[in-house]
Amino acid sequence: MGVILEVINVTVRFGGVLAVDNVSFKVNQGEFLCLIGPNGAGKTTMMRAVIGTVKPESAQILLAGRDITRLPTYKRAQLGLALTHQIVRPFRSMSVLDNVALAAGHNRFSRILTAMTAMDRSAERERAWKYLELVGIVDAATKSAVGQPLGVTKRLEVARALALDPKVLLLDEPLAGLNSIEAARLSDTVATINQQGLTVVMIEHNLGEVLRVSQRLVVLDNGRIIADGLPAEVMRDPEVRAAYVGKERQNAAA
Ligand SMILES: Nc1ncnc2c1ncn2[C@@H]1O[C@H](COP(=O)(O)OP(=O)(O)OP(=O)(O)O)[C@@H](O)[C@H]1O
Ligand SMILES: [Mg+2]
Repeated sequence: MGVILEVINVTVRFGGVLAVDNVSFKVNQGEFLCLIGPNGAGKTTMMRAVIGTVKPESAQILLAGRDITRLPTYKRAQLGLALTHQIVRPFRSMSVLDNVALAAGHNRFSRILTAMTAMDRSAERERAWKYLELVGIVDAATKSAVGQPLGVTKRLEVARALALDPKVLLLDEPLAGLNSIEAARLSDTVATINQQGLTVVMIEHNLGEVLRVSQRLVVLDNGRIIADGLPAEVMRDPEVRAAYVGKERQNAAA
């Protein structure tokens, strides 16, 4: 199995906060990797450094062996990196379907504004339907993206990322706010897409689903990687239990 994404020595500082502290890890072609860790561990920031929406103090990012460290975000997306956002922000004036169609048109239009104004959306709409079906929100297709329940917007976000036709799908808490049935269904969908060959990196606090679908776990705590390995082994690691499991269980019990 080859390496598709390589993250080397990523450090991100926000003023006095060292959010990501010299993080390195590899993602193998075709694997389903989950990135876990307590709130504020640096997971989102690390992923934003990978897609280029946050400026790291130091970093080298290789996608399929190509150095993308200095490329703008839209070029990284064109080369195959798609990240869903923890806080979903659909284009409010558009329908659910057109939100996905816009993403499906990304290869034809390098910049989002060009895509929004110039796009003849028929071909993209057809592809968009397919992704709405896949994530199970066709019923909402023609409705405005604004005001949809979280269960729909979270799945819309995954559909938009899939429509970019990525090489690596990066998901930031796709299951947050979903009920347990919706969460199991969406992680099953992501697992199916992964089995069809798409590499997936998922940040997630829902440990039950993480342990059910992931093949490898990377654990971040205070901006540093404290474990990287097979899920069952990682979860037995005392440092992981102390840093992550204890806190999360306490939160869940509270
Ligand atoms: N834009 C920002 N400006 C300043 N500080 C930030 C910014 N984004 C994140 N931080 C800080 O960086 C640290 C890491 O935050 P980050 O959001 O990456 O954590 P996380 O692991 O994704 O947490 P969560 O599980 O709560 O989403 C935190 O201390 C956070 O307050
Ligand atoms: Mg986060």
